[in-house]
Amino acid sequence: MTPQEIQLGIEQYGPWFYPFEFGGGLRTTAIVPPSVTDIFDTRLRMVEGAVGNYFGQRERGLECLDIGCHEGFYSLAMARRGMLVTGLDAREENLGRARFVAKAMGIDRVEYRQGRVETLAADRNRQYPLTLFLGVLYHVEDPMLCLRQVAAVTGEMCLIETQVVDEIEGSTEWGSREWLRPYHGILALIDETGEFDAGGRETGVTPMATCPSPKALRFMLRQAGFRRIEQIPPHEGAYEQHARGKRVVYAAWK
Ligand SMILES: C[S@@+](CC[C@H](N)C(=O)[O-])C[C@H]1O[C@@H](n2cnc3c(N)ncnc32)[C@H](O)[C@@H]1O
Repeated sequence: MTPQEIQLGIEQYGPWFYPFEFGGGLRTTAIVPPSVTDIFDTRLRMVEGAVGNYFGQRERGLECLDIGCHEGFYSLAMARRGMLVTGLDAREENLGRARFVAKAMGIDRVEYRQGRVETLAADRNRQYPLTLFLGVLYHVEDPMLCLRQVAAVTGEMCLIETQVVDEIEGSTEWGSREWLRPYHGILALIDETGEFDAGGRETGVTPMATCPSPKALRFMLRQAGFRRIEQIPPHEGAYEQHARGKRVVYAAWK
């Protein structure tokens, strides 16, 4: 694409969620406030570190599925590392932007498909050695269904990034006042009707969101079929939510 075509695309597809650099002074400006844009690089560093540590030399040609890929920020990052990437998102309007960015950057190791995580296993019907599930879990209304679907298409390793709510420890009666069962974490129900009705491109496919506590996330990952789960520690200078443990990145292996 010529610089003029790229500039036109930047204008036509805007507003943008992510900051993309095309070279020659051509770039998109993210709509998120400057105080929040650090989140993109923090996630990237945490994800790339975990991927590099585990796959090492196998990264080149590795197949990766980026679930809830939005404008393709992390799909492109994986493609730049030599992977063959499929980006999947429920919103065609996000995928149109993602396709434009990949084309403008001349990256052809990535393809984008419309689809929902809720029906992933039937739609894809195959496994990818690496799956990314970043910034999506806390937007969906049925996190357990979604994690089962993600696990079904994961061949080896999945990286999950999500907001988490404060833990609530406790137990409940279970059949009799004498029988108690401990909580294995909690799910908070969050109303995203405002963003959803305003046409926000980041919410789930329904306005009801559920956000897990850390314990709930680990419990659900095990129930979904992941056998080993590790939390990726935030680095020095990480985005404030990651640094405070309000957002977490987990690596989960089948
Ligand atoms: C907050 S954004 C996160 C984007 C990106 N993964 C990241 O970490 O920056 C959530 C993305 O997931 C997509 N999404 C939400 N619910 C989905 C679902 N049920 N199935 C597929 N994609 C979904 C949205 O359209 C949006 O692009």
